[in-house]
Amino acid sequence: MEELKHNGVSATSPFGEAGRGPVYILGIESSCDDTSAAVIRDGILLSNVTASQAVHMEYGGVVPELASRAHQQNIVPVVDTALKKAGIEREQLSAIAFTRGPGLMGSLLVGVSFAKGLALSLGIPLIDVNHLQGHILAHFIHTEDDDYESPTFPFLCLLVSGGNSQIVLVKSYHEMEIIGQTIDDAAGEAIDKCSKVMGLGYPGGPIIDKLARQGNPEAFIFSKPIIAGYDYSFSGLKTSFLYSLRNWLAEDPDFIEHHLNDLAASLEKTIVDILMKKLRLAAKDLKIKRVAVAGGVSANNGLRNAFHDYAKRYGWKVFIPKFSYTTDNAAMIAITGYYKYLNKEFCPVSAPAYSRNVI
Ligand code: KG4
Repeated sequence: MEELKHNGVSATSPFGEAGRGPVYILGIESSCDDTSAAVIRDGILLSNVTASQAVHMEYGGVVPELASRAHQQNIVPVVDTALKKAGIEREQLSAIAFTRGPGLMGSLLVGVSFAKGLALSLGIPLIDVNHLQGHILAHFIHTEDDDYESPTFPFLCLLVSGGNSQIVLVKSYHEMEIIGQTIDDAAGEAIDKCSKVMGLGYPGGPIIDKLARQGNPEAFIFSKPIIAGYDYSFSGLKTSFLYSLRNWLAEDPDFIEHHLNDLAASLEKTIVDILMKKLRLAAKDLKIKRVAVAGGVSANNGLRNAFHDYAKRYGWKVFIPKFSYTTDNAAMIAITGYYKYLNKEFCPVSAPAYSRNVI
């Protein structure tokens, strides 16, 4: 029987053992304002439990200190519920996968410390997961009865969230290359900030999405960046939106109320156009027709429609995740952990959290 050395403790490995038991991975996610835990057995999702934090709504954005305090309160019940829903005892776990970064340091530390403590007490390996890699590998989450077709390698993934906007060339579960990314704001950040300027709630993405469905996307024109290669920029759009709104409000103080749906639809269309233009360029240059989308903004209906449209226009095979796997969740951390486990990629207990992306 093979022995794994990790964290200063050793654990019996199921690798190479005849009649080995199932591999159970507990995933823990706490990078921002969602505390989530999930259990995966041999690559199949058994549970995925998330506690979201409503406390930030009144501030119009995530307050880091409040987020880490809420994680402290939520982590034990969330992990406990995930294990119960999966119908397993913690002693059955093969390894614990946790989000190591990027994210808010105070938030990350809660999940990282909890994962380390639990792994040490159980004498099982720790697996560190990059949050962004997790979003991408959400395309490989399967439940017992789903018929979701995962992409085959290589594929392109548009990763769009509140903190990131990237085009990633995904070569395997373990090998990914960022070929383009935002040089300033992320797409989700731009949506949230424009929504705030209009006096709408937080997070703005889902609100803009809902309003946009009733509006005319051609009603208003906002500036689009001119940037070489596959990189993005959203700060100019934000300024253009703010200044246009200021001028219109000077003429009509109720301009926002009068044009809310059209403003949302035009803003959404501008962002979707910016995202899709670079993605199309990358797909064309690299001659890749398998194209996926991931991250919180991939819940957006305008973006999803654009993916279907491009599939028809350019013969793409598109991969759009279930809504529940678009925003932060531990199922994506557990599935990434599962593939790292199969690859025997463990991390020492000394591994620190990181707030900025290190991939
Ligand atoms: O991936 P995520 O949950 O968190 C990180 O940033 O890591 O993404 C959150 C972002 C927020 O900016 C939110 O407004 C946006 O995703 N979002 C949406 C929608 N749902 C969430 N943006 C547009 N349309 C949506 N339906």
